[in-house]
Amino acid sequence: MTTASDDLARQQLQAILQAHQQQAGALLPILHAVQDTLGYIPDWAVADIARAQNQSRAEVHGVITFYHHFRTSPPAAHTLQICQAEACQARGSRELTAHAEQALGCSLHGRSGDIGLEPVYCLGLCATGPNIQLDDKMISRVDAGKLDCVLAGLKEA
Ligand code: FES
Repeated sequence: MTTASDDLARQQLQAILQAHQQQAGALLPILHAVQDTLGYIPDWAVADIARAQNQSRAEVHGVITFYHHFRTSPPAAHTLQICQAEACQARGSRELTAHAEQALGCSLHGRSGDIGLEPVYCLGLCATGPNIQLDDKMISRVDAGKLDCVLAGLKEA
């Protein structure tokens, strides 16, 4: 059974494919547009994308899985990004990431309940790292205790 939102998603996919119809090598722009529009790249969309790009489903799937940026399932309600770039690493982001993985019970690119844990490579606040971004909010000088407070605040919300 399809729902109205399924129908809308399929219409949105077709609009994206049409918009890129004349563009050579449009697979990546299409995948970005689909994820920006639908929040992820559903399995059912892969066949249509492959057909529109004259590629096999395996080729499209290979591109989707090659780039960590692309999601194949709906995003979590909240996204916690931890900066992995050099300046934040020098200020302890690796240890912070290990703490977050332990606290959430998932690895980077994983998900724990309503929280998705993702790497990010520089948030432009290099002098005040380690930095994280929770949804749209950037938070600086984060240590394990501060991260625990952020996570506790999310669970209370
Ligand atoms: S290196 Fe982390 S904000 Fe720039």
